[in-house]
This record gives sequence, C-alpha cells and structure tokens, in this order.
Amino acid sequence: MSELETLKAQALAAVSAASQLSDIETLRVRYLGKKGEITALLKGLGQVSQEDRPKMGALINAVKAEVDDAIVERRQVLEVEAEDQSAAANAIDVTLPGRGTGRGALHPVTLVLDRIEAFFKSVGFDTVYGPEIEDDYHNFEALNLPEHHPARAMHDTFYITDSVLLRTHTSPVQVRTMESREPPFRIICPGKTYRVDPPDPSHLPMFHQVEGLMVDETCSFADLKGIITEFLRVFFERDDLKVRFRPSYFPFTEPSAEVDVQCVHCLGKGHCRVCSSTGWLEVMGSGMVHPRVLEMSGIDSERFLGFAFGMGPERLAMLRYGVSDMRHFVDNDLRFLEQFR
Ligand code: DAH
Repeated sequence: MSELETLKAQALAAVSAASQLSDIETLRVRYLGKKGEITALLKGLGQVSQEDRPKMGALINAVKAEVDDAIVERRQVLEVEAEDQSAAANAIDVTLPGRGTGRGALHPVTLVLDRIEAFFKSVGFDTVYGPEIEDDYHNFEALNLPEHHPARAMHDTFYITDSVLLRTHTSPVQVRTMESREPPFRIICPGKTYRVDPPDPSHLPMFHQVEGLMVDETCSFADLKGIITEFLRVFFERDDLKVRFRPSYFPFTEPSAEVDVQCVHCLGKGHCRVCSSTGWLEVMGSGMVHPRVLEMSGIDSERFLGFAFGMGPERLAMLRYGVSDMRHFVDNDLRFLEQFR
C-alpha cells in the first residue's frame, strides 16, 4: 500500500471511530488543517516531477475530498446524537409526582384576632377599621385628652407632623364610629397601634389592639361585665375562670376599670413567674364612655350610654400559647411560627 493509501485508511478509520465532536475537530486539523498531513502532501507536490505532478495531485485531492466528506458526515451524526442526549437530559418527566407546596400557618396573633372577632360577632358586634395614621383630634382630643393633659404622657407617640401621628391605640375608631353612625351600635375594631417603645419581652413599638364600643339607650356596667367575663371564659376555654374589674383611670371612661383574669398559668395559686405571684393577670382596660366623649362626637349623653374596652392580642396570645417573649411574634423564626400549624 502506498503511503497515501495508508494515510487515507488511517484517517477514515479515525474519523469513523470518533465519538465526540471535539475529536472530529482534532482530526480535521490533523489531516486537513494548514499544517495537516494531507495538506502537507499537497504542499510537497512541488518536489514531484512535472510529469507525475498532475496525477499525484489528483490522487491526493481525491483522498482529501474523501476524508473531508467522511468528517462532514461523521460530524452530522455526532451533532444529532449530542442534541438527543441533551434533550433527554433536560426532559421533564410529566409522570413524576409533584413536589407539593409547604403548608403555611396563620400567625398566632392572627389566630387570636380571629377568635376575638368570632366571639364578638356572635354577640352582635360589627368589625370596623380605622386609619393607622391619625390626627391629634381623634387620637387624643376627642377622647377627652386635651393638649397638655398629663395622661398624654402615658402614650409615647410617633409624630409625623405636629398634629398627625401613628395612632397610639385603637380608641380613635370609637370616635370615628360615633361620628358616622347613629346609635344603637356595637362594634369592635382590631388593628395595629404604635408607640415609641424599644422592643423588650413585653413591649413592641408596633403591636395590636382590639377596641370595643357599645352605645345604646340601656347599656350598663353590668352589661360590660357580663360580655367581657363571657368573652374571657370562651377565649381561655375555662367556664370557671375568675375575672375581676379593678377601679382604674382612663380619660375617656367614667367609671374606668382594668380587667384581670385569674392567672392561667398557676390558676391563682401564686409562686408564679407569669403573674408575679399575684394570682392575677391584667388583660384589658374598660369603662363607661365619658358623657363628654359622647357629646363631642354628637351623641346625646342624656339619652344614650356606652361602654368601651380595649385589649392587646399579643398579650392574650402570650397567655393562651405560653409565649414568654413578645419579640417572638416579629422575629419571623419558622421554628416558632411552625408550632401554630
Ligand atoms: N386605649 C387604652 C390604651 O391603649 C385601652 C382602653 C382602655 C380602651 C379603656 C378602652 C377603654 O376602650 O374603655 O391603653
């Protein structure tokens, strides 16, 4: 076999054995590239005698064409194979079962808000909402807290301007309701409230309140006691839960009372961290709406009476679920939140 025949046989064998597109390219360079072996033979034609040159040239060119064709053909085959492989690798198996979505949970404060709302709905209270950005009039003035009133110091207020602020309680919604509705009515208002309080185990600068207000011709402190006592017994799921009304002061109610429940941790036995061994837990403020507050919002205080109350869902959630630090509610730690699924 001539040198040319050997070269051709080698080249064709190598091409048909190539299993990768990169091998094909290597072979093309090796045989047909500028410094390739077949190219070198063509370049060497100069040394061949004039007589043999055309015949030799034709032979070499034929080999070159044959190897070139083989390369093109093999490349096509390998390209199709590569495409098939990548399609198979990226294919979606539609018969596989889905991954599913993680099951979420309601936030404990939302759970408490839902329970509060469900109870008060069952005794005829509508749920209403008011703005979190309030004016001085609705947040303070109309609740019998005129400017320079010392009780304003009880609220560390986030002011936006001199007379616009983030509401420090949900009580302004009492005022907005009395301004816009004709009595009789019963409402609760859940929502966010704000005070300049650095976060600690029992304070957050943003927290929730639920306000309650009932205005009617016959509306007594006894009604307030009855509804609140029933609510707390339903909320804590204890029919015999002791509840007491302790005289207190709020500018917008007269008389005013703090509501305490028997400690849900030690059941009033004492020696307890949760109730500081007093046996009682303070859970809300309440009272009969001050006649001046009714009058300022256009309600005839000779004809109508009202009672009101305000509670903190974070505190109720802590007591109900045994949470020792209020900051857990805003940490967004899934290990905490997942326990409420
Ligand atoms: N607004 C009071 C507070 O934030 C809570 C409160 C007390 C609301 C007595 C009332 C009430 O409606 O009658 O501390």
